[in-house]
Amino acid sequence: MNLKGIKLTWLGHATFRIETPGGKTVIIDPWVMNNPACPDSEKKIKKVDVLLCTHGHGDHIGDAVEICKQHNPIVVGIPELARWLGKKGAKNVAEMNKGGTQIVGDIKVTMVHADHSCGIQDGDELVYGGEACGYVIEFSTGLKIYHAGDTNVFSDMGIIRDLYAPEIVMLPIGDHYTMGPREAAYACNLLKPKSVIPMHFATFPVLTGRPSELHKLAPGIEIVEIKPGETLGEKDVATHGIRQRTA
Ligand code: NI
Ligand code: MN
Repeated sequence: MNLKGIKLTWLGHATFRIETPGGKTVIIDPWVMNNPACPDSEKKIKKVDVLLCTHGHGDHIGDAVEICKQHNPIVVGIPELARWLGKKGAKNVAEMNKGGTQIVGDIKVTMVHADHSCGIQDGDELVYGGEACGYVIEFSTGLKIYHAGDTNVFSDMGIIRDLYAPEIVMLPIGDHYTMGPREAAYACNLLKPKSVIPMHFATFPVLTGRPSELHKLAPGIEIVEIKPGETLGEKDVATHGIRQRTA
């Protein structure tokens, strides 16, 4: 796996921190405080320049409002979600919609489709949050990664492949609320990435899908299983087949 100068840390579930070659910090789907998979040492966000939110479910934006108040990052989301965050105190909102691309910080972000629901639990109320999405991120080195958000497999992943050809994809595999390993293997056929980072599994007992199952179903693809809190890209990582947890 060649990360071309980025450092990528999994904070558990669907939450990732990426340090760009230009020194910016990007966080995708900020959920740390109540995220049982997030290591204690990562529960306090120290720096963030760009926040990308895939949809309004609590396990994806649980800490977005607090982080925006504390660090004032550029926060990207679909308009209904972005405006809700703005109403709650986010100052630096950069809304967009599916198919669009914008430059935020030193990355190019394209919002792509996801097939999932998107209500926001706001106190006792369930607020309309627009639609769920995924993101293709292009870094200054040309590296492209795709964070699928929460989704089932859908055939338009073939369009994401044709238009953007992301080398690294983060796919949910836990099943129940998203696709499981069987659909994720099908997604690999459509996306043809170099490497897959499985996410959204094992956080709760109901999220039963595992990287080893995906590896069995998609044997030709490098499945990179990382531990929550582990950072990739601090040195060149060359792996073949499945990279198992070290602990
Ligand atoms: Ni969700
Ligand atoms: Mn989720």
